[in-house]
Formats: sequence, structure tokens, C-alpha cells
Amino acid sequence: MVRTIFIASRNRGKIAEVEQILHDLPVRFLSFADIEGAPKTEEDGTSFAENARKKAVAGARFAGEWTLADDSGLEVDALGGRPGVHSSRWSGGGDEANNDKLLADLRDVPPPARTARYRAHIVVAEPSGRIVAEAEGACEGLIGFERRGTSGFGYDPLFVVPEYGRTMAELGLEIKNRISHRARALDALREPVVRELGV
Ligand code: IMP
Repeated sequence: MVRTIFIASRNRGKIAEVEQILHDLPVRFLSFADIEGAPKTEEDGTSFAENARKKAVAGARFAGEWTLADDSGLEVDALGGRPGVHSSRWSGGGDEANNDKLLADLRDVPPPARTARYRAHIVVAEPSGRIVAEAEGACEGLIGFERRGTSGFGYDPLFVVPEYGRTMAELGLEIKNRISHRARALDALREPVVRELGV
């Protein structure tokens, strides 16, 4: 029997990335964008790990199935690690307003000091509340001076990957899903999940 795993997110960009990175698992993915009444867990933790655990456990209890939650965000060194766990709601607006704020806050910061990283903490929980597996991943980069590219979501048009000299939004999903924080966390999660699936 193919197991269903719920993705505790309504973010279509994030959902598509998880599905693509774990496409080789014998699993059917559904997400909280597909069902009515899924919990909107308050992300009030002080770490990605805390928020991801909370989302996964609440999601699994609601869905009655294994549930995967990703809590992720951007840490900018010149901003003391902000926006961090507040990445999605940082400006009070959506992705566009967040990117405007990032450009404004870094206006006077020269290129060598524009270092940043994406971090993701990913948890799979079962309906009992037991954590089946969890892992983290990071991806180092630099914040650009203007938006470039249209792929991905969130801060991707400003997040330059030094090895490629391009933003995540220019690199496209195939490359992003090999090098991103989310890809690294999910790659680390694959083996324990397969073991727990018993397939
Ligand atoms: P979460 O849904 O609370 O985990 O918020 C994640 C937020 O972090 C997103 O809304 C984005 O602002 C940012 N973020 C996380 N991962 C990425 C990514 O892969 N690309 C761009 N922004 C990201």
C-alpha cells in the first residue's frame, strides 16, 4: 500500500519543491493547500526546529497521516541573522514587500558584507505525535542589489549563489532542488524515512 504523507504547508512553491526532491519515494503527497480546515499553526518558536516540530505534530494529529513540515528562512549576516524565523512575515506584506525591505535595509552594505544563508528544518511526524525523522540543511549566498529571475519563491530573486553567479530565481528549479537548504535537509531525511516506511 502506498503511504500518504501530508505536507503541512499552503506555500505552492515549497510544496512543489518537496514533491520534486522526494519524487523517488513510494509515497503519495497531499498538502494543506488541498484540504479544508487544516490547522494554521502559530509559528511562535524561537528556532526553525521548534516551529517545524510544532507544525508537523499538529498537522499529523489533524490529518491522521504522517505529516512533513518545513520551517525555513533567510539569515542575513549584516542584519544580525534577521529575518530568520520571521522571514515570511518580515515586512508585514508578502514576498514583494519582503524583498523591498531587504533591499532597503541593505542599501548601504557593500558586496563582501552581503553574506546570507537559507536554512530549513524539516520534520516528519506521525498522528501519535512521535517524530519519525528530522533534518536540517543550509545554503550559503549573497544578497544582490536588484531582483533577477522569475523561478522559485520568496527571496529567490535576490539570493545570489556564488558558485553560479546567479540568483536562485535565475537558476531554475532543477538546479535549486540540487543545492538548496530544502534539498539538503530532505536528502538527509530520505534514508530514515525509507527505513521507517519499511519498504
Ligand atoms: P515558513 O513557511 O514559515 O517556513 O516561511 C518560510 C519563508 O522563508 C518564506 O515565506 C520565504 O520568505 C523564506 N524562504 C524559505 N525558503 C525559501 C526559499 O527556498 N526561497 C526563498 N525564500 C525562502
